[in-house]
Amino acid sequence: MTKRMLMNAFSMNCVSHIQQGLWVREDTRQLEYTQLHPWVELAKILEKGCFDGLFLADVVGVYDAYHGGPETSIIEGVQTPVNDPAMLISAMAYATENLGLAFTSSVFQSHPFSFARQMSTLDHLTKGRVAWNIVTSYLPNAAKNFGLGSLPSHDERYDLADEYLDVVYKLWEGSWEDDAVLRDTEHGIYADPAKVHPINHVGKHFDVAGPHLSEPSPQRTPLLFQAGSSTRGRSFAAKHAECVFIVDSRRSLSGAASVIADVRNQAVQNGRRPEDVLFFQGLSPVVGGTEAEAKAKEAEYLEQFSTEGALAHLSGSIGVDLAAIDLDRPLNTIDSRGMRGTVKGLIESTPDQTQTFRDLIRTRNAGQFLTGTPEQIADTLQDWQSAGVDGFNLIYSVTPGTFVDFIEGVVPILQQRGLMQKEYAPGPLREKIFGDARLPGRHPGAGWRPG
Ligand SMILES: Cc1cc2nc3c(=O)[nH]c(=O)nc-3n(C[C@H](O)[C@H](O)[C@H](O)COP(=O)(O)O)c2cc1C
Repeated sequence: MTKRMLMNAFSMNCVSHIQQGLWVREDTRQLEYTQLHPWVELAKILEKGCFDGLFLADVVGVYDAYHGGPETSIIEGVQTPVNDPAMLISAMAYATENLGLAFTSSVFQSHPFSFARQMSTLDHLTKGRVAWNIVTSYLPNAAKNFGLGSLPSHDERYDLADEYLDVVYKLWEGSWEDDAVLRDTEHGIYADPAKVHPINHVGKHFDVAGPHLSEPSPQRTPLLFQAGSSTRGRSFAAKHAECVFIVDSRRSLSGAASVIADVRNQAVQNGRRPEDVLFFQGLSPVVGGTEAEAKAKEAEYLEQFSTEGALAHLSGSIGVDLAAIDLDRPLNTIDSRGMRGTVKGLIESTPDQTQTFRDLIRTRNAGQFLTGTPEQIADTLQDWQSAGVDGFNLIYSVTPGTFVDFIEGVVPILQQRGLMQKEYAPGPLREKIFGDARLPGRHPGAGWRPG
């Protein structure tokens, strides 16, 4: 049987998300990000196109590594300003019936007790269509915004996330029993106190008494996404994640296949099943009626593309000031020992080591482009699927245009090939994707259920 591809649109409640510099174009609605109507319209477009979800990124600090300050990011609108993604969910849910609505929340930004209640509220309001992208924040400014003098070390951040997850699982899964709510109008009993439990969590970072303040929502625990792929990131994913977002910098099928195999093996060691973790590759489709038309469109995007914006974005992401590097030096003359693995991966990804760092910046962003006719794009997505990828998070160049072109051109072909759904399965988001609204019993979150 042909396996269907899962399809998400990737966006952010800000002016400029990934493809820096394109917000100035007339055919994009990025400048309207502070308004509700472009988001509601986007949600409707995606649902008409049978997308599984809209996935909203977020950061809680400015990108201030480039030239040692936030100026370039502010000038270029690089994920600054950025509004709260959670605030968009209710309106989009009201305008749709089936679209999944995923948003990012860092374990540093909200106390787990408030976050668990916020999520449960949204799970009720969306009838079980929310998903959480669990992130551990990589921007030093984010840590400073929440009272930490500096960003805790990479692994400490994941340790804190592990405890954060325990707290929210206890609240979502362990506090209210499934039959705690009676709504008995005859006897005036709303809920049975014997079935509503405190959690009494006492840990290194959090002490939370409970009980949870929200009654059980359709999914209880929202569908869980995660995006880190370091060694520690993968073990975290193998424990908690149901969906993993990968953007392999080498953009190679074999690179994706090896991450997928590693995380799935570790998931099995944790008592989960390989198919309990699904993988989404990030790609940026540029669809044209002919190959030439698509290539011309890509060339136009590249022409308008802001190298400064990309440098500010990349510098912040990897924690290295790329202004301190002569961008016109060939890559192979740059001492990368002081840089992090991500940079090393980028350098190694360039077959021609005589390219400059400036070329690399362009290649990296252009490298996410998936440019061609609808048939060519569908073929490439199928190649990714053969490498083990379950779905895609599509990065826009212009919004909603990138998604509209994809839906009008590529979706019908994928549907004809039996690779994309033509209608939605019933039920909450997890049920649509995994067949059950609740976490499987073998997931660590389920271990906190009463009884
Ligand atoms: C595709 C992708 C999307 C991400 N989206 C976000 C995001 O929206 N917000 C955020 O704070 N971090 C985001 N991250 C960062 C990761 O959550 C993680 O902190 C980072 O990749 C470092 O973890 P690692 O060293 O395990 O890879 C993203 C990472 C990737 C690869």
